[in-house]
Amino acid sequence: MEPHAELEASAARLGFDLSPHQIDRLLRLAEWLEAEAIPAGGLGPAEGGRILQRHIVDSLAMAVGFDRFPREVADLGCGVGLPGLVLAVAFPESGLTLVDRSSRRVSLARRAIRVLDLPNAEVVQGEVEKPVRRFPGVVARAVMPPERLLDHLHGWIEPGGRAVVAGSSRRTRAVEGYRTLEVGMLDPPTWLLIMAA
Ligand SMILES: C[S@@+](CC[C@H](N)C(=O)[O-])C[C@H]1O[C@@H](n2cnc3c(N)ncnc32)[C@H](O)[C@@H]1O
Repeated sequence: MEPHAELEASAARLGFDLSPHQIDRLLRLAEWLEAEAIPAGGLGPAEGGRILQRHIVDSLAMAVGFDRFPREVADLGCGVGLPGLVLAVAFPESGLTLVDRSSRRVSLARRAIRVLDLPNAEVVQGEVEKPVRRFPGVVARAVMPPERLLDHLHGWIEPGGRAVVAGSSRRTRAVEGYRTLEVGMLDPPTWLLIMAA
């Protein structure tokens, strides 16, 4: 299947109806990851060739963890911009604040925002352990063990808010402090850990 149709079909399976413009932007992000983020060391060299499903669709799947996507969302440990930039494209009415402690990755994620001309995303350098403000939604993908992350989430989430943490596909057991949600339409299935404040 050609990439546009593949991404459109994957988004629809997850329950998201993306416009052709949004699909084009996500494909542009995939190209940028391959062309710039991998050579710059922001993503591992083994990721080349499997970015669409493993990174773009997998990032989009994190939105399944929210009943309604929040108006403001922090992406903790965003690396070069995942999942935050994917979610910013998919939810243009929401503001995404991407946080990472690595200045190199922060620069790369900012570069991606410029390349994509994304008005609703910003990147700040910071640490998960030092919350700067609270958000109605938080996402975190492959940042630290969920048990450790849990200690810091309370400082980032507004009362009534929700954090969605991507768990490893191999890790299907419950993690104390979260409820789990299987996104089974992906291959391999993704497990989201959900923490409600
Ligand atoms: C494996 S990468 C994952 C990046 C991205 N979330 C993704 O899914 O591709 C982990 C990222 O978390 C960041 N990170 C790890 N510990 C952190 C901390 N305590 N505070 C802020 N960022 C952190 C690292 O700098 C790195 O960019």
